[in-house]
Amino acid sequence: MTFSFNWRAALLGLLVATSAAYAADGRPPVTPAAAPAALAQRPGHAGIASANFHATEAGLEVLAKGGNAFDAAIAVAATLSVVEPESSGIGGGFMAVLHRADGREVFIDARETAPAAVNPKDYLDKNGEPNRDTALNGPLSAGIPGEPAGLAWLATHYGKLPLKDSLAPAVRVARDGFVPDGRLINAIAEREQDIRRWPASVAKYLPSGKPPVAGQTWKDPDQARTLELLGEHGFDGFYRGEIGKKLVDAVRAAGGNWTAKDLESYQIKERTPISVDYRGYRVVTAPPASSGGVAVAEILNILSGYDLTKLDEPHRLHLVIEAMRRAFRDHNDYLGDPDFVKMPLDMLLSPYYAAGLRQTILMDKATPSSMLPASTGIDPGMHTTHFSVIDKDGNIASITLTVNYTMGSTFVAEGTGVLLNDEMDDFALVPNKPNVYGLLGSAANAPAPGKRMLSSMTPSIVFGADRVGVIGSPGGSTIITQVLEGILAFIDGKDAKGIVAQKRFHHQYMPDRVDVEPGAFSPATAEALTRMGYTLKDRNPWGYMNVVTWDLKTNTLDAASDPRRESGLGKVQ
Ligand code: DON
Repeated sequence: MTFSFNWRAALLGLLVATSAAYAADGRPPVTPAAAPAALAQRPGHAGIASANFHATEAGLEVLAKGGNAFDAAIAVAATLSVVEPESSGIGGGFMAVLHRADGREVFIDARETAPAAVNPKDYLDKNGEPNRDTALNGPLSAGIPGEPAGLAWLATHYGKLPLKDSLAPAVRVARDGFVPDGRLINAIAEREQDIRRWPASVAKYLPSGKPPVAGQTWKDPDQARTLELLGEHGFDGFYRGEIGKKLVDAVRAAGGNWTAKDLESYQIKERTPISVDYRGYRVVTAPPASSGGVAVAEILNILSGYDLTKLDEPHRLHLVIEAMRRAFRDHNDYLGDPDFVKMPLDMLLSPYYAAGLRQTILMDKATPSSMLPASTGIDPGMHTTHFSVIDKDGNIASITLTVNYTMGSTFVAEGTGVLLNDEMDDFALVPNKPNVYGLLGSAANAPAPGKRMLSSMTPSIVFGADRVGVIGSPGGSTIITQVLEGILAFIDGKDAKGIVAQKRFHHQYMPDRVDVEPGAFSPATAEALTRMGYTLKDRNPWGYMNVVTWDLKTNTLDAASDPRRESGLGKVQ
């Protein structure tokens, strides 16, 4: 039987109907998010949690040199580019939520952009079917990098130290070498066949003809020099001059379409973060061109109409999953680069819209997602990276960085050490055909010259009366639900270790199933959810969440890295 339901008509009706129903259900209306304010106190010490030992140490080193959280963020990001290239790097982009000790809050959008010559036909094969190779591998899959411009922007506008000082630890690690961890070795092995297609990629990642082996020291002199030029000349050191020219030449020689103008005209965007109140906490998170903050806000707004603490576990999970399902549906339909598309954000973020959605949730039954064609997402693996920083003065950085799929496009531009991203796949390259994370997209996220592709990155900061939490994760489309669950765990009172260790689950509307980390649901809960109509599917791996918390009552920081990767990479000093 096909389930057919005119969702928009129903919602519109409910939107009209529920302003009254909402007030009449006895619950207080959701109050607009409080304006950002400076916190009255300073921690006096600092905390950093990242996915790599060298990166956390680089951040601490820069703090010790007198840098603030934003200088430390530059050091962490640039070092990750060297030691964790499978996840992020100067050939990719990032999104950051910053809270300055003086109360200023800003979202830094250092997302990649499509080159001017982007041509949707490049992502179709000769039969007009999606060409997954050009979407994910080689120079056509790469957007114009945003990370170098973002690091220069952080130094100029938010840091205390010259960019070159904050980049120094990364330059040193690249030049002197480091021992790659197992995850990098595995990522190179996983992508070996694609790496072999590009000579400069072979030279960098298969130096003796094979992936590096455990214990071998590995150097990256080309990237060291590129980082040095960035440090000396800022934006121009990467986007113009020698490096800019080498990037364009390498991309074009291998069949790509970048021009010098694409690089020179790249711009960082400062945007107002999304701020949503939930049960006395203020969640500050990512606006478009990320879909993450809109989805998190929509889910929290839906959940704010229930008292989750009064429900048994299956019903609590049921409501969270139904809220996820509804938020992801809007993700697919409405969201894209705010500089290119008009989005109904007032509606999506409105408590009344959430109240309308709430009315479509039955208390004991899953809603089928079957009004849209099912997608066929593949297991994304877990790349991309997130780190969190709080400095002694109370400056806070929550930053998620990516080159998209493991090892990005696998394409290294000769003579630069820069591994390019494959972020073009985050566009809806072919309407209603899933990307690598199974996400469907519409015209709002169609590629266009200079446009940013929609992201799921959801760097977030949660402010409560007694505690602050800095939360984020990699994980493709699951970033959004993992961050949401981290926020809920923080609000439930879990400490940093408890938040990162908590088992996870995910629903993204299509495919219509709940992905579950083994052990997340007890057998009884799994059975109850199945009876309500859910299809549960074991899933591994999950993202790597790195969290710093600040207890305002004791004025102490706590930092924890995800045990799924490596515990102990969160440090307080
Ligand atoms: O921006 C995005 O949403 C994706 N490029 C993130 C990719 C990712 O998290 C991969 N990790 N699993």
